[in-house]
Amino acid sequence: MEKAALRLDEEEVIDLPVASGTDKQQAIDIQGLRAATGLVTLDPGYANTAETTSSVTFIDGEAGVLRYRGYPVDQLVDHSSFLEVAYLLDNAELPTDEELDYFRNRVSEHCALPKGFEKVLESVPDGTHPMQKLAVSVTLLGSSRSDRPKGSEAYVSDFIRLIAMMPTLVAWSYRSGHDQVYIKPDPDLGYVANFLNMTFHPGQGDYRPTEAHIKAMEALLILHADHGQNLSTSAVRLVGSGRTDVYSSICAGVLALSGPLHGGANQRVIEMLEEILAAGGNTRLFMDRAKDREDPFRLMGFGHRVYKNVDPRALIIKRYARDMVDKNSSRLFDLAMRLEKEALADDFFVSRRIYPNVDYYSGIIYQAMGFPTEMFTVLFALGRLPGWLSQLREMMRESNAPIKRPRQLYTGYPKRDFPTRSDR
Ligand code: ACO
Repeated sequence: MEKAALRLDEEEVIDLPVASGTDKQQAIDIQGLRAATGLVTLDPGYANTAETTSSVTFIDGEAGVLRYRGYPVDQLVDHSSFLEVAYLLDNAELPTDEELDYFRNRVSEHCALPKGFEKVLESVPDGTHPMQKLAVSVTLLGSSRSDRPKGSEAYVSDFIRLIAMMPTLVAWSYRSGHDQVYIKPDPDLGYVANFLNMTFHPGQGDYRPTEAHIKAMEALLILHADHGQNLSTSAVRLVGSGRTDVYSSICAGVLALSGPLHGGANQRVIEMLEEILAAGGNTRLFMDRAKDREDPFRLMGFGHRVYKNVDPRALIIKRYARDMVDKNSSRLFDLAMRLEKEALADDFFVSRRIYPNVDYYSGIIYQAMGFPTEMFTVLFALGRLPGWLSQLREMMRESNAPIKRPRQLYTGYPKRDFPTRSDR
């Protein structure tokens, strides 16, 4: 299809071009619509709107396919590392040995936080959620740059700096909430092992993360690394379109991710499973609540705007969860599998095509590794960072990337005259 005809009333027909993407994806291009007709489109939630073209991530929601720069995500999980995937997302190609070494070295050089930065984490009020701590610290990282290069070097340098410092920020935001001494980065351990070391080292004596934990963490970070124009990525691009600095755009992504319908769902899944256990494991009660249209309760970790048959990330994560569960977490894992089985046999969920999503089993792995629930969404942010940055760069490379400014269909009062106070 090259054109779509839009009929207005009986007689007027407007031809709209149809744009083609990879694997037969197509979109009606309405950029000329308003100029030609005076009309705008109405699409709350953007369920039918491609806001941009993008060559970063391919998703086929019907077939359950996810590829970064063309590579199936399961292959990347099996054969790659998170740093390699971060490079791939930003550069569109996998790195050669030399390129990867160079990238790794530059990341290693920048993983220490600016001097005195620990005071930022300590000065936030007790009880602040780690996502809010992360948002504050990411913004402040931007203001702590007196040495910022100019032009395109600036982006590369901010990319490296954020990828390098994020694990330190995440680990320290965890420790600052638990009155633990900060563990300095040791980049020689490798990106993921260094992160786990900074998070879990007891402060004294020896600690080394297990190979199983490193592998599972790599896999989870890779699986979260990008996901097209999701809410937080859209927030990053929206804010960036106003030409904010990179750090402010990423801060917007962190805050957008924190909501329970988006990245905050992984924390809520565990809370839900624990609530079900506390209620004697009565899954029926919670299924009924999820189906009750008067009750705002939803099965957390279920459903997705794009995936309508299977979320490929959830399948891989479930496999890792099965391998990781220990005595403590197996009760939750068994319950999660039972709830999944019941939901997938229930007409309410089947007819609405609601399946486990990326957040359903990830918390079980994080819990088995020792992370408290309030850290789960921060771990999601650590994984999603390269996606946010690559998408932002892709947008900024467009010549004259327009400021994003949706229109609206106004449905309020028509014009009326100001009444004096005694007439109201
Ligand atoms: N539990 C119960 N009912 C659900 C669920 C759920 N998890 N998800 C969707 N539904 C129902 C809705 O109530 C609605 O029913 P109705 O047609 O009778 O009104 C129908 O399914 C369609 O739901 P929408 O909210 O319109 O679907 P949408 O595509 O807009 O939402 C979303 C997707 C937000 C993820 C939703 O499925 C949800 O709230 N899930 C729970 C939270 C969650 O797990 N979020 C993480 C998503 S993955 C990510 O962001 C990283």
